[in-house]
Amino acid sequence: MDTTRVYEFPIREHWRQPRALLGPGAVEAAGPEAAAMGLKHVLIVTSGLAGTGIVDEVRGNFEGAGVSATVYDKVESNPKDYNVMDAYQAFSQGECDGFVSLGGGSSHDTAKGARIVAAHDGRNVNDFAGLNTSERLDNPPQIAINTTVGTGSETTPAYVITDTTSDNAPYKWVGFDRACTTTLAINDPVLMLTQPAEYVAYTGFDTMAHASECYVNRIQMHSATPQSWQAVRLVEDNLRQAYANPRDIDAMTNMMWAQYMAAQAFSSGLLGIIHSLSHAVCAWYDVHHGLNNGVGIARVWTYNVPAAPGRFADLAEAMHATKRGMSRVEKADAAIEAVIRLARDCGIPENWASAREYPKTRVGKGWYENRPTTIEPDDDELEKMATHMLNDICTPANPRMVTLETCKEILRDCAFDTMDSKAGQPLNGRPTHGGAGATLPRVGDGETPAGSLVER
Ligand SMILES: [Fe+2]
Repeated sequence: MDTTRVYEFPIREHWRQPRALLGPGAVEAAGPEAAAMGLKHVLIVTSGLAGTGIVDEVRGNFEGAGVSATVYDKVESNPKDYNVMDAYQAFSQGECDGFVSLGGGSSHDTAKGARIVAAHDGRNVNDFAGLNTSERLDNPPQIAINTTVGTGSETTPAYVITDTTSDNAPYKWVGFDRACTTTLAINDPVLMLTQPAEYVAYTGFDTMAHASECYVNRIQMHSATPQSWQAVRLVEDNLRQAYANPRDIDAMTNMMWAQYMAAQAFSSGLLGIIHSLSHAVCAWYDVHHGLNNGVGIARVWTYNVPAAPGRFADLAEAMHATKRGMSRVEKADAAIEAVIRLARDCGIPENWASAREYPKTRVGKGWYENRPTTIEPDDDELEKMATHMLNDICTPANPRMVTLETCKEILRDCAFDTMDSKAGQPLNGRPTHGGAGATLPRVGDGETPAGSLVER
């Protein structure tokens, strides 16, 4: 009997988490930990963290512990397949025996990809998109030293790479691989104090997306939802302060915990279409992943409320947005209001058309030629991004079913409208997202990609 017609996700999978060190000064343990693992020569994979002095400091820490270190510092935002292959070449030519990723998600993800490539004798990283696609589990070890408050990649089995070369390009794919979990995660909030304010906001909204998607989605991993609820509360309580003053050690430490807990939650509880739309827009425009999530979050929550009003009411509680006597649906709407207020307080652009260059930006300067300098997609481009979004590995877990047309409408809303253009309307009167009287696609209609991520 095909039980997936009744039970969409009959078997959930809990993914193991690596050992971790968290707290001020934790980075100083990195070199001695590598020595204790028996490593002799590590490759430090990083974007360079220009102006912070962190790379030199960390290299000195390893050398002080008797571990040689070579630096690959060309990682780009939304890491590309060529970043991974270049890091692998540096690892191979340096005869290294371990990786150290230093920075945010781009550095950790590049190192994860390079580990997979190293374990498969230099095969192209684009061969490994998807769930558990690696054929060997004996990757070189990875110590992940995290410097941002969004990625969580230092503790997850996930990595995300932009394919710039195959027939699918541009395509930003997710690898979710048991071979990719890092060996040791290090979260030192002192390193996070060096982030520019914009990055605190963007990465903070990546954390909010991880936590909220895991909480409301169709997986409902009960061991993960308490962590994700707590992460939403920590973001609500600390992101404004961390954005307004990135030297606020208390706020930054709480954001460090939020990003770590949200990532542990989504490792097993998975995500939803905030991430699907973000991957699609990154593939075309090379925008910061967290900025995309900040732009997309209110629209996707608005779209998803009818599928899980009680879960969104819980998020409103986490965000201190409820009042006595509110109904469940009123609380759900209050959650959307609260997340819009948080986004605006943290300088998230109202839509992609109003997103402009920011430090180290690549908006409008994508890796391929002739990109427009603003994000104002025409109908043809919206359709291509909607197709990317529909086929993303994060889409099947989304609480509300989607079609190509609904994906396109959400993207159009993100591109041109205000964050609250659909919020607060009656649930059957959010016209562009299913619409009054519209029939939602059902399981088996073949709209949302079929099949469980975790079923066997
Ligand atoms: Fe993310």
